[in-house]
Amino acid sequence: MKPKLLIVDDDEEIRTQMKWALTKEYDIVLAGDRATALEQCRSEMPAVVLLDLGLPPNPSTPEEGLATLSDVLALDNQAKVVIVTGQAEKKIALRAVGAGAYDILGKPVDMDELKMLLKRAFHVALLEREYRDMRLQVEGETFEGMLGMNPRIQAVFESIRKVATTSASVLILGESGTGKEMAARAIHQKSARKNGPFVAINCSAIPESLMESELFGHEKGAFTGAHMQRKGRIESASGGTLFLDEIGEVSLPIQVKLLRFLQEQRIERVGGRQEITVDARVIAATNSDLQKGMREDKFREDLYYRLAVVQVLLPPLRERGEDIHFLAQSFLQRISAEIGKTGLTFSPDAIRAIRQYSWPGNIREMQNRVRRAVIMCDGKRVAPHDLELDQSPAAQPGLTLKVARESLEREMLTRALKTHSGKITAAANELGISRPTFYELMDKLGIQKPEQVRE
Ligand SMILES: Nc1ncnc2c1ncn2[C@@H]1O[C@H](COP(=O)(O)OP(=O)(O)OP(=O)(O)O)[C@@H](O)[C@H]1O
Ligand SMILES: [Mg+2]
Repeated sequence: MKPKLLIVDDDEEIRTQMKWALTKEYDIVLAGDRATALEQCRSEMPAVVLLDLGLPPNPSTPEEGLATLSDVLALDNQAKVVIVTGQAEKKIALRAVGAGAYDILGKPVDMDELKMLLKRAFHVALLEREYRDMRLQVEGETFEGMLGMNPRIQAVFESIRKVATTSASVLILGESGTGKEMAARAIHQKSARKNGPFVAINCSAIPESLMESELFGHEKGAFTGAHMQRKGRIESASGGTLFLDEIGEVSLPIQVKLLRFLQEQRIERVGGRQEITVDARVIAATNSDLQKGMREDKFREDLYYRLAVVQVLLPPLRERGEDIHFLAQSFLQRISAEIGKTGLTFSPDAIRAIRQYSWPGNIREMQNRVRRAVIMCDGKRVAPHDLELDQSPAAQPGLTLKVARESLEREMLTRALKTHSGKITAAANELGISRPTFYELMDKLGIQKPEQVRE
């Protein structure tokens, strides 16, 4: 497959000439104005763009070309844009480079020079892409399989590192799908017990009547149906780690017994007469509010303090900033490799949708959506509908009205600003609000003032 090159020039003759001269090496797409150029970037994702600065409606000035440059880079900040400028003015060239252009080429274009330059630009683009992929893979393995570069998750990794060297009990808190079990496994893996067993038990999945025997085991004949002696989960975790998931669901009588185990490291099987010493490190997790449980006398305070010697709080995905995009990319790469559909990328619209979505099901939901998208998408580009992220915010579960409203406001303001090249009055007019209101909203939503506000 030939690498893709976008040529943007308002002169049809030049476009045709260029295409003819370069078609052997490159897969060429063409555009004569800014809107078409952006459309091509969106759909074709060229690694390199050759851009003439003099574009309609004012081909004699570089403004439209410079605006195209910044729009292209906003879509794909890795794109290598080579500026072709007739106005061999140093000032304009410098402005373009300052705005992120990769290189400058003076008119009339020397074909050999152009070919050399393109070769280098594609080479750099390819290296960058490989580097990015490699970094994703390497970083994916940095913390026991847990991905994350956001400072809050890095702080979690740091606590895990510290607590792993001790035998203290740990309480992991976080919404569903934020990685509580993964964090528990990471603690185990980083600890001196890593060669011992990791025994996970989901306290909400076991009926109350079976819970005691499940945890503590039973002797033969302890109750009807107890045909033989059986070790409980706690005993099985000896020498390793016991992970009590959904600890908030444990009944009060079992809480008393767990507390005793935590205090004395000893248990008694159901129907047993002798105490057994067990050396297991306990990690508990919950997404329910234990403080509330304690206030309502559903959760014992003494047990809470025994379990929560150290607390680890996993942040929800929507509060992890750039991680949202980073995790989506990593999952896309991993899952597509796993399924054997390589070379998939998210469309810019898909990336936008991923960033705007509130991810109530956190990382688990993201994995599921990406997996589904990889299976469903046609071609190489994953679109919002493949991720089922093309519905209105109103259809998103768990979204508050405030978040939905702000997300819509942000989207509309950003788009209006873009349509009107950053002219606030025109953008405000389009949305039917006053200039001061527009400024207020920008402020509230943290929208940056575009660089060239021309009013
Ligand atoms: N930091 C991370 N990097 C990569 N994958 C992650 C990360 N955290 C969680 N996952 C993945 O997300 C999924 C959910 O994680 P996990 O089961 O640990 O969450 P949980 O908080 O225990 O969820 P629940 O409350 O639903 O039990 C798993 O498939 C896990 O591999
Ligand atoms: Mg879990």
